[in-house]
Amino acid sequence: MDATLDPTTLVVFGATGDLMARKIVPSLAYLAARGRLPERFRVIGFSRRSWTDEDFRAHVRAIIDAYPGAAPRGAALDAFVERFSYQQGTFDDPRAYDALAADIQAVASTWEGRCNRLFYLAVPPEHYRTIFERLAGSGLVTGCDADGACTRVLVEKPFGKDGASAQELDEVLGSLFAEEQIYRIDHYLAKEMLQGILSFRFSNTLMEPSWNAESIQRIDVTLLESIGVEKRGAFYDGVGALRDVGQNHLLQMLALVGMERPDDLSARSIRDARARFLRTLTPPPADEMAARSFRAQHRGYRAIQGVAPDSDTETYFALRFHLSGPRWGGVPVTLESGKRMGEPLKQIAVTFRAPDACLCDASRPGPYENRVIFQLEPHESIRIEFWAKKPGFEHELEKREFTFFLYEKQEKVQYVEEYATLLLDAIEGDQTLFVSTDEVREMWRFIDPWLQVWRTGAVPLELYEPDTSEVRDRAFARLDEADARPKRIGVVGLGKMGAALARNLLDHGWQVVGHNRTFAVAERMAGEGLLPARTLSDLVAFLPPPRVVWLMLPAGEPTEQALFGEGGLAELLQEGDTVIDGGNSHFADAERRAKRLAERGVRFLDVGTSGGPGGARFGACLMIGGERSDFERLEHLWRDVAARDAYRFFEGHGGGHFVKMVHNGIEYGMMQAIAEGFAVLDAAPLGIDLPKAAEVYNRRSVIESRLIGWLREAFELFGPDLAGVSSTVAHTGEGQWTVETARALGVPVPVIEESLEFRKRSAERPSYAGKVLSALRNRFGGHEAAGG
Ligand code: BG6
Repeated sequence: MDATLDPTTLVVFGATGDLMARKIVPSLAYLAARGRLPERFRVIGFSRRSWTDEDFRAHVRAIIDAYPGAAPRGAALDAFVERFSYQQGTFDDPRAYDALAADIQAVASTWEGRCNRLFYLAVPPEHYRTIFERLAGSGLVTGCDADGACTRVLVEKPFGKDGASAQELDEVLGSLFAEEQIYRIDHYLAKEMLQGILSFRFSNTLMEPSWNAESIQRIDVTLLESIGVEKRGAFYDGVGALRDVGQNHLLQMLALVGMERPDDLSARSIRDARARFLRTLTPPPADEMAARSFRAQHRGYRAIQGVAPDSDTETYFALRFHLSGPRWGGVPVTLESGKRMGEPLKQIAVTFRAPDACLCDASRPGPYENRVIFQLEPHESIRIEFWAKKPGFEHELEKREFTFFLYEKQEKVQYVEEYATLLLDAIEGDQTLFVSTDEVREMWRFIDPWLQVWRTGAVPLELYEPDTSEVRDRAFARLDEADARPKRIGVVGLGKMGAALARNLLDHGWQVVGHNRTFAVAERMAGEGLLPARTLSDLVAFLPPPRVVWLMLPAGEPTEQALFGEGGLAELLQEGDTVIDGGNSHFADAERRAKRLAERGVRFLDVGTSGGPGGARFGACLMIGGERSDFERLEHLWRDVAARDAYRFFEGHGGGHFVKMVHNGIEYGMMQAIAEGFAVLDAAPLGIDLPKAAEVYNRRSVIESRLIGWLREAFELFGPDLAGVSSTVAHTGEGQWTVETARALGVPVPVIEESLEFRKRSAERPSYAGKVLSALRNRFGGHEAAGG
């Protein structure tokens, strides 16, 4: 027995039930057999049955007799069983709680030191409120400071049936207990392999630099069980697989591979880091969720005792969605779990992208993907799959593995090892492996929408043969089909930006119909896979509804004409179609355009696009305005067009273009400052090497920037004196709009204003600074640089 641990009384509500027999008694025995229980430790069982202490002890003894793992035997068992006593009572009977309080206090007064109390609710959640209120009524819920003793409550998942009921539960819990007192059990967090993921990720520099969307292709979290629902029919039927394990275990597994490094090893830091990751999870738009989820029930399930004969509950599900956020933006995740699936398979597989071009036999081009697999079952192991040359005369690659076996699980009985860990942590007051209120909230926020879509009947329940995994093929076929569905879009305006955008979309598997005023421009792109449309009406005809049309036209008249001119999109498009204005339109135009299009049921989004043609081609920065539902519906489009994590939504029509306009104003000021600075360097009598200055500025200095990088490129191209580069600098309107808008808002913007004036004067006043500006515009925007 461990004398360093505080004396503890564990009260189990529902002590005659299944949880006590399957989890609590065996794991206490596990701890006792290893000398890990506090020296002064007792268990009070609280239940309705009219049992005596002796009946209860006989019950405990019978559980241990039947338990196959290591447990106290002989005299040690007698001593162990002596620690148990019984309090009969219904959950709402205040007298039973008074008796309980008297009992706890009587024994505690004979113990020295802090006497902690653990209340374990092994009862359905509908009893929580009554139990907590009665406990409070008997003065049993005081936190750690009152008499030096700590009171902690242990609750089991499911934490509610959905977000709303979880919140209700939290309110009850929160009104009586501080967060530090609440221990929500998710036994997956106590699994050794899962506990080890953080060390694997953050103590080895081997993986961490590539643990992100750039290197990782997809993440698959799998929990396939051989067992079924057995005697839990009545409970399980009201819950289903997604709530039973998806909302908790699977999301926690994902959080461990996806979360950022916690600040330290404290429970608070680790739980916060998990919650922060869970907060980034976003379900796909409602109309996508049906295609991205699959649910099935195994044959024979309805005959299980307690299960409704016409039950619609899933015993298998699979979900696919994409991660967002700076580290993971765009990475697809599949969550999958099922009962009676034959061989168990419980793991997280992280698949890396195959190299763009393999160094391999051209007739076997791969893909050669690496995978890191954290496996719980059938083998507790970490496996790294890699490719190596097959010994022999040919240069052939074959898949090999590095495998690390964690250890042989000591207790093969389900739950015991994990619950032993969790009970000991609760005794010691360590919350790391317990789920915080924030985490529960975030997990429900993510799961609720799927359940809602399922409730509408949009995802029919399929049947599968028990003890096989044939259903997986059907599930994956459905999810893959959703991923492979043709993505179609029209691009109007195939100038520098539009053509780059169209190519970017083609690269991402979109079918692009392109229209350009000069048809030959569109025709020339046919060889790249673009479908050229001679007229806007052709473009609309080539796209099946609901259509998405992206305008990449100069602001003002060209955009206005394409929308509202004769034969314009407003006349051609139909209800449910969407127009994206990706040009540099004035923000005030967005509201008006959105309204006019809405008359025909056409949706409108204003999207500021930064990064120049290079960005449009290989990953732009997008500032998106409009209605949230439209933004969310097209999330896959933004993800494909934007650089990693480089798009944001600004509620309201015009929000995107406003943010983009100010971006351009800022750009004017920054460019001007760089230009002026280099003019000073150029004029200095020291003969300063300008390319070198640009180079060093971009080595971790405060002014390191893409602009300086482009200037460095310009020096390479045009020479340090920028000979041949015009010092007359054009401006396209947005700087002007920023100044005007700022004036209207009463905000002084002297830097932006002066940089705009400089450009206007530049034709009359040739300067080196002007050349720098033109050179920069040439580099990022592809604008003409030549001149005097
Ligand atoms: C529980 C679920 O939380 O986890 C059970 O309620 C499931 O349905 C179990 O069988 C799986 O846990 P493990 O540790 O056996 O993988």
